[in-house]
Amino acid sequence: MINARHYLSFDRMKDGTPVFVRAIRREDKYALLKAYEHMSDRSIYYRFMRPKWQMSLDEAARFTDVDFESHVAIAAGHYSEKGEEEALGIGRYILLPGSKVKRAEFACAVLDSLQNLGVGSILFQHLLKIAREQGVEEFIAEVLPQNRGMIGVFRRAGLPTRTIMEDGLLRVNMDLRQNREVLESD
Ligand SMILES: CC(C)(COP(=O)(O)OP(=O)(O)OC[C@H]1O[C@@H](n2cnc3c(N)ncnc32)[C@H](O)[C@@H]1OP(=O)(O)O)[C@@H](O)C(=O)NCCC(=O)NCCS
Repeated sequence: MINARHYLSFDRMKDGTPVFVRAIRREDKYALLKAYEHMSDRSIYYRFMRPKWQMSLDEAARFTDVDFESHVAIAAGHYSEKGEEEALGIGRYILLPGSKVKRAEFACAVLDSLQNLGVGSILFQHLLKIAREQGVEEFIAEVLPQNRGMIGVFRRAGLPTRTIMEDGLLRVNMDLRQNREVLESD
């Protein structure tokens, strides 16, 4: 049984670089703010669908102080030569109330300089594992249609997926209950 609050696992980026994946912690708010400041306008817009703003420490705290039941968040990182943690990306899912199936909204972000190296897929796969253990049946994500990176991560996961275009956004609905290689568009 996975305890999301104490989640710790190891993985490798596409080039073989070792990566740790662990549950987010309250004190990560400082690293999150620092990472946010370095992220491009484009990545911020792709993640939050709004222009980059001045994130406050309180806001960063809301992203890092999670209950690991209705809101699960993990960080991927590696160790510097000095043995210090260096953040690469963060992923999360938040349960959506009010539906018969247990459904959660997924989102993640990877530092610009480290995109396309497999970190987004690592975050997705580890959250998928935790979510399945917690009985989540569906992931939903709202993605800009030009966000090829995120769409690539979802496509390669091979989950039964429905995508609907709504108000200029792709609403991607992934079924976690089985693992068939189907991708259909309405
Ligand atoms: C989306 C995001 C999380 C993906 O993370 P990542 O670490 O780059 O993801 P991966 O490296 O695992 O996979 C990206 C895949 O998309 C592909 N891809 C990326 N950009 C692409 C493009 N412009 N055209 C075609 N394919 C593209 C990559 O080639 C890769 O596929 P491959 O593994 O088959 O080569 C990252 O790009 C990001 O943080 N973007 C900004 C924030 C964001 O968009 N968040 C998602 C909102 S829900």
